[in-house]
Amino acid sequence: MDKIIIHGGHSLVGSVKISGSKNSALPILAATLLTEETCVIQRVPDLSDVHYMLQILAHLGAEVERASGIVTVKAEKVNSVAPYEIVRKMRASVCVLGPLLGREKEATVSLPGGCVIGDRPIDLHLRGFQALGAAVRVHGGNVKVFAPSLHGATISLKGKFGTTVLGTDNIMMAAVLADGTTVIEDAACEPEVVDLANFLNKMGGKIKGAGTARIVIEGVKELHGAEHEVIADRIEAGTFLIAGAMAGKEVTVNRVRPDHLVAVTDALRACGFSVNGTNGSLAISGNGTRNSLNLRTQPYPGFPTDMQAQMCALLSTAAGESSVTENIFPQRFMHISELKRMGATIELYGATARIRGVDSLSGAPVMASDLRASAALVLAGLLAEGTTEINRVYHIDRGYEMIDEKLGELGARIERVKV
Ligand code: EPZ
Repeated sequence: MDKIIIHGGHSLVGSVKISGSKNSALPILAATLLTEETCVIQRVPDLSDVHYMLQILAHLGAEVERASGIVTVKAEKVNSVAPYEIVRKMRASVCVLGPLLGREKEATVSLPGGCVIGDRPIDLHLRGFQALGAAVRVHGGNVKVFAPSLHGATISLKGKFGTTVLGTDNIMMAAVLADGTTVIEDAACEPEVVDLANFLNKMGGKIKGAGTARIVIEGVKELHGAEHEVIADRIEAGTFLIAGAMAGKEVTVNRVRPDHLVAVTDALRACGFSVNGTNGSLAISGNGTRNSLNLRTQPYPGFPTDMQAQMCALLSTAAGESSVTENIFPQRFMHISELKRMGATIELYGATARIRGVDSLSGAPVMASDLRASAALVLAGLLAEGTTEINRVYHIDRGYEMIDEKLGELGARIERVKV
């Protein structure tokens, strides 16, 4: 297992090229199962979660080739049982259910358990499949969905915590080959859902309204192969903007969609940082003051839960009292105890972290736990006095492509050590 060692206090300056979006690439790669023709997906990030998805596609019978950021998939014949030994490593594997049900009219995937950010149910996904005419069987830790045929339906994906991103993806990928028209009410509006819908339409799908809470899918008989470039990873971009805010003179993120980051750039401006966007880039200068902030995570276009931990790191050294309320995954606070080891003063009250800004953080050995909590610890290490050692770095590698190399190129004193 690698660890990352950061010698804090070095200013960041320069620009970084943002990778393709993990949360767009995963469902789009799953969607290649919907056709027996060849699909070519570009700007696929080099991440362990992507490797897991490619392994699953291969196990399901697809021919998969990867040449740097370009993945070619040809799923001429597929079987419908996703392998437990891979699925258990990545919850997002659940997004193969929709395309397998759409194409094969049956799919078996091991139930995603919980994970450190909380329980990860898929009741809304399964309810949607049932509305399309599928039967659902849960047995031995697996969920099997199957149907003689699929018919259009009107489905609401409204859940206790808003809506469901992968649930919206899954229902779109099943409904695209159903007989008749499906309307998804209370759909997720994330840019990654729009990216998937755009890919499905390139394959011959007829999907309208993606990016709004009401998506209409007119079922078609079959889909053909297509080429597609994945959108920029807005969470990686936001993470680097916060790195620039915390430790930067001036940091620019390139090849991004500023319109996908409005809630994040608004929050950074509210903290007193100047953030300027030109076509495809955003620049932040870290000389701003760090005002305190009261933040609540919301479904898109609200402030993203995937940026919550990173903002906690930033607010740890903001003047005054801040609060961060997590409305999507109320238990998503694994980073708090580790930030406190670095000197942050944060108290948890249910799903709200109350942060009292301190003048400085101090480096310490800390433990990565989940993808975004680990990123928060890297950010804190950039700013902290002394050395921070982050263990279990595989969590970071799930969602950040070469984060140590990219930060090093900006001037961070950071090294990856094999242990
Ligand atoms: C996607 O997960 C992202 N992952 C997550 O990013 C992200 O945090 C999340 O959306 C929310 O934006 C991928 O896209 C691969 P949800 P997803 O279904 O779709 C509850 C990262 O760090 N829920 O939108 O699995 C659920 O428990 C990852 O990159 C139900 O109750 O999340 C949660 O509280 C982490 N029933 C809320 O809804 C369901 O059937 C949102 O979950 C489904 C979800």
